[in-house]
Amino acid sequence: MKTIDRRNFFKDLGYMTGGAALLASMPWLKSCTPAAREEVAGRKARVALIGSGSRGQYHIHNLKTIEHAELVAICDDYPVNLEAAHALFPGARTYSDYHELLDQKDIDGVIIATPLGSHARITLDSLAAGKHVFCEKSMALTLDECKSVYDAYSASDRALYYCMQRMYDDKYIKGVQMIKDGLIGEVTGMRCHWFRNADWRRPVPSPELERKINWRLYREHSAGLMTELATHQLEVCNWVAGKMPVEVAGLGDIVYWKDGREVYDSVSLTYRYSDGRKITYESLISNKFNGMEDQILGKDGTVDLTRGVYYLEEDNLVPGMKRLFGEIDTKIFAAVPTAGPSWRPELKSAYTPHPIMEGHVAVNSGESMVSSDADGSDKILAAFCTSCITGEKAENVVEEAYCSTALCLLGNQAMDERRVVTFPEEYKIPYMKF
Ligand SMILES: NC(=O)c1ccc[n+]([C@@H]2O[C@H](COP(=O)([O-])OP(=O)(O)OC[C@H]3O[C@@H](n4cnc5c(N)ncnc54)[C@H](O)[C@@H]3O)[C@@H](O)[C@H]2O)c1
Repeated sequence: MKTIDRRNFFKDLGYMTGGAALLASMPWLKSCTPAAREEVAGRKARVALIGSGSRGQYHIHNLKTIEHAELVAICDDYPVNLEAAHALFPGARTYSDYHELLDQKDIDGVIIATPLGSHARITLDSLAAGKHVFCEKSMALTLDECKSVYDAYSASDRALYYCMQRMYDDKYIKGVQMIKDGLIGEVTGMRCHWFRNADWRRPVPSPELERKINWRLYREHSAGLMTELATHQLEVCNWVAGKMPVEVAGLGDIVYWKDGREVYDSVSLTYRYSDGRKITYESLISNKFNGMEDQILGKDGTVDLTRGVYYLEEDNLVPGMKRLFGEIDTKIFAAVPTAGPSWRPELKSAYTPHPIMEGHVAVNSGESMVSSDADGSDKILAAFCTSCITGEKAENVVEEAYCSTALCLLGNQAMDERRVVTFPEEYKIPYMKF
C-alpha cells in the first residue's frame, strides 16, 4: 500500500486520491482545503484569548503561525499568566475581566483556555455577545451545562469549536479512513490507555492559590483524568464506530497521589456498544510503562492511531512446521509438563508495524500537560480562524465534543456510584446513533 507523506497531507487535502470521499466522510476538514485557504487569503480573523495559562500560551505560539489570524486581546484574571502571555504578544490589549473583553466590537472570535469548570459560562456569554468561539476541551463540567451550551449553539449563527485536535491530526484522519475502508476487517473492539508518572501538580506561590493553580485536582473545576485525557480518546472511538456506547461500568480510585486531591489518579472503565463491542479504557498517573495508545482492534489487524502504525494478522501467520521448529529452538516446550494440565504463556506476538503515513510522528514524554507536536491543534485553530472570517460553522466538531464529554462524565458517574450507567435519554442529541 502506498503511504502518504505527512508534509503534504494538508497541503493537498481534497485533491489527493480519494480526497473527495475523505471530505464527504469527515466534513469538518473542508475548511482546511487549498480552496478554503484561498478564500481567506489576505484577510484576518481578529481573535482574543481568554485564559492565558499554559495551553493559552501554546495557542499564542500557534496563532503566530496562522497567516489569517490576528491576536487583538488577551484576558486572564491571574496577573502572572496575563503578563507572561502579553510578553509573547505585546501588540495585544490586556483585560482581567472577560466581560469587558466581550464588549469589544473589534473582536470576531474568542479562544477559551480556562479551567473546565468555567467553559460553559464563558462559552454561553461569548455566544450571547455575538462572538465565534473556540473552547478548549472538554465541553463542560456537567451534562446539564453541556446541554445548555449545545442548545445555545444550535440556536446561534456563530461558529463554535472544541479543541478535539485528533479530528485534525493527519495520522488519525488517514488511519480512521483506512479502517473504514476495511484495512483491519471488522472492528471488534477498542483499547485505549493513557499512563503517566507525575503528580499533575503545579508549584503554588501562596496557599490561597492552590485551587486556582491546581484546578485539575479539584471537583469544583475539573472532572479529572476523564475530561483531561480520556475525552480525546473516547472521541476517536466514536468516530471509528460511527456510534455511541449504550452503557459504561468502571472503577476509580486515588491509589498513589494521596495529597488532598479530589479526582481519581487511577481509572479503569468499560464502555459497551449496543452490538457488544467494547472500549476498554485505563489511565494511571503513577506508572508510565504503557504510555498512551489508541488501539483499534479488527479481525484482520490492529491500528495504533497514536503511533500512526498498523499491524496485520496475516504478517503473523507462521506456517505450522516453521512455528514448530521455532518453538523447539526457543525451548518453549521445555516448560510444558508431559502429564497433567499443560500451560505455556501466550505471549504477545511480534507484529510488523506498517506506517499509516510517511514522515515523523512526534512523541510526547507525558511530562507536559499542554501538547505534543503536530497533533492537529494548530490545524483546528486555523480552521476556527477561517470560520471567524467566513462565518461558516464546522460540521461535527461540537457534536463530537458533546458525545465524548458526555461519555467522560457518565464514566465518572459510574465510578462514583459503583454501578453500570446507561446513556440517559434526556442528554441524547440528534447526532448520536446507538
Ligand atoms: N486540547 C488539549 O490537548 C489540551 C491540553 C492541555 C490543556 N487543555 C485544556 O486547556 C484548558 C486550560 O488548561 P491549562 O493547562 O492551560 O490551565 P492553566 O491553569 O495553565 O491556565 C488556565 C488559565 O485560565 C485563567 N482563568 C481562570 N478563570 C478565568 C476567568 N474567569 N477569566 C480569565 N482567565 C481565567 C487562569 O488564571 C489561568 O491562567 C483546560 O480546559 C484544559 O483541559 C487542553
